[in-house]
Amino acid sequence: MSTFPRTVSGMRPTGNLHLGHYFGVLKNWVALQHTEQAYFFVADWHALTSDYADPSGVRRNIREMVKDWVGAGLDPEKCVIFRQSKVKEHAELCLLLSMITPVSWLERNPTYKEQQQQINTKDLGNAGFLCYPVLMASDILMYRPHGVPVGEDQLPHMELTREIARRFNHLYGSAFPEPAAMLTPAAKCPGLDGRKMSKSYNNGIFLCDGMDDIQAKVRGMFTDQSRLRKSDPGNPDVCNLFPYHLLLCSADEQAEIRKGCTSASLGCVDCKRIFLKNLAEFLPPLQERRAQLEAAPGAVDDILAHGNERARAFAAETMTMVREKMGL
Ligand code: TRP
Repeated sequence: MSTFPRTVSGMRPTGNLHLGHYFGVLKNWVALQHTEQAYFFVADWHALTSDYADPSGVRRNIREMVKDWVGAGLDPEKCVIFRQSKVKEHAELCLLLSMITPVSWLERNPTYKEQQQQINTKDLGNAGFLCYPVLMASDILMYRPHGVPVGEDQLPHMELTREIARRFNHLYGSAFPEPAAMLTPAAKCPGLDGRKMSKSYNNGIFLCDGMDDIQAKVRGMFTDQSRLRKSDPGNPDVCNLFPYHLLLCSADEQAEIRKGCTSASLGCVDCKRIFLKNLAEFLPPLQERRAQLEAAPGAVDDILAHGNERARAFAAETMTMVREKMGL
């Protein structure tokens, strides 16, 4: 594994993972563990940047998220699964990188501006939230990866990470490669109501949902909203369900469904039945692996303890190099 190219990525422990997480990022992680030396971590410090006032959810969600990861197919023998706050080197690198990061770079970050404007249920005026991208750059640069598998929403942070790396290399001599974002090609996962699938909109299908729940959710799902009767031809390109057929059906099935929809021979109820059948095949293996992990006492803690140790060993090497370059 050590001769493979390196990648690193993390997720904030905000709650159970849904299909959007799976098809947007996690599926990519699972594939990469076979071809890369991959580090995947629970970004619990990042969760605190916005949830510092009530950290109880963060604590609960750390283990839940690891269970979802392993359920989805991450294998702790094939990749390093760890917890950010257990590798203190991330905090040291964050402090050092904050010395060379202009505040103006952070203030003009589009994600920062957007969240400041849109989220009014929490205070985001804290220094930790402004410095979110410096911590993220530290998480990444620590492992000197060539790429970072993330969703599109993380692109502004990736840009900042490269800018910080460039500035470090310019000031102290070459140390960090500039990592690229490794996006999953065109995975679109609309929520049940057509908005982006998100925990905060309560419109998700979760990896650990039971089939009864899923049946009720899918029944209420929006399709092509201008198709009122089965005898009206539908338009798969504006339907909220059709993108899931692109993810879960073979190319032949997709073509057949498209034809049936546009010629009004296949109704939305039939289409939902196909989706349900595919979910009933896709989810059980994930849930089975998750249940096995849950049944083994201490298994999640063991995975994290082992991963923390391996991440720390790598991080220690990077920090030796960084301290030296910065004259410490
Ligand atoms: N910002 C990422 C998210 O919201 C989480 C994250 C923190 C991350 N540090 C990272 C992702 C480093 C990739 C690499 O999902």
